Amino acid sequence: MGERRRILTGIRPTGPLHLGHYAGALENWLRLQREYDCHFLIADYQVSDLADDFARVRESVWEVALDWLAVGLDPQESCFVIESLVPEHAELGAWLSWFLPLGMLQRNPTLKAELAEFGKRSAPVAFFTYPVMQAVNILMPRAHLVPVGEDQLPHIEMTRELARRFNRQFREVFPEPEGLVGRVPRLVGLDGQAKMSKSLNNAIDLRDDADTVAKKVRGMFTDPTRLRATDPGHVEGNPVFLYHDAFNPDADEVADLKERYAKGRVGDVEVKQKLTRALNALLDPMRERRAHYEAHMGEVRDALEAGTARARARARETMALVREALEVDYLAGPPPARG
Ligand code: TRP
Repeated sequence: MGERRRILTGIRPTGPLHLGHYAGALENWLRLQREYDCHFLIADYQVSDLADDFARVRESVWEVALDWLAVGLDPQESCFVIESLVPEHAELGAWLSWFLPLGMLQRNPTLKAELAEFGKRSAPVAFFTYPVMQAVNILMPRAHLVPVGEDQLPHIEMTRELARRFNRQFREVFPEPEGLVGRVPRLVGLDGQAKMSKSLNNAIDLRDDADTVAKKVRGMFTDPTRLRATDPGHVEGNPVFLYHDAFNPDADEVADLKERYAKGRVGDVEVKQKLTRALNALLDPMRERRAHYEAHMGEVRDALEAGTARARARARETMALVREALEVDYLAGPPPARG
């Protein structure tokens, strides 16, 4: 049997994961973990705005690992990897940053948007190195596929370019990785804002309990033009229906609610109750698995430790190939003859 094709993908440890992460990424990962050799990376080098709060980074590393186990990622099948505990990342980054032109970073729209947020303040140098490190994350296990959110595609394009340059100039070491976007590339927030996000405080977290979900859904933004249940409502762009489409597996129920909503024959209360029920049905099995792991944190630690060790073995392999390709294994053979 041939080797399975490889996946690498990552998440920054900034706090609990939410439904946006699930629909945009995790759901895909669950499906892919059966077919591919998967590396799931906790990208703690990408601390970004948490660089002054490593206690939170540390806390979030555990939070992310728990979320992964709760959704059903399997640490036997796949590697859970802590980025900074694979020091080869830093090593490969030091070499590969020579082969990525600054202009390519400056044209990267995701990076541009992030840099714009600094305004007149000076951005940390790491803002120019983190996309290199992200490329390194992907190239280190010589991954073929990178399932990510839509906003990450520019980084993957850069990674492909970097791989191409290296392979052409030295030796064929890296596959050119492809990006893969999830079923719901961008989930709106509870408040109707463009994106569900922890910092906007408009998220349903995977760890929320059933009552919290009910409460958050009750407070959701719907159709602002509709004053009473008998007014015809707008379905299109309505966050409650976007969530029904994304998370309610009962297509007939959703179609019926939409039809009645448009005719003013159903109230927000019923639409929201049915959404709450669908969301809790999705989250219940996650709650059960989480409860198990919270009572057995040693298993969470083992998952991180074993996955990181396996990733590190692969990283050493890649570094040997890179050193050979660059011809920088100076001390490997006898010294050159002189005189
Ligand atoms: N930058 C990604 C994000 O913010 C996280 C990430 C880090 C990542 N390294 C990666 C994603 C490698 C894919 C591959 O979501």
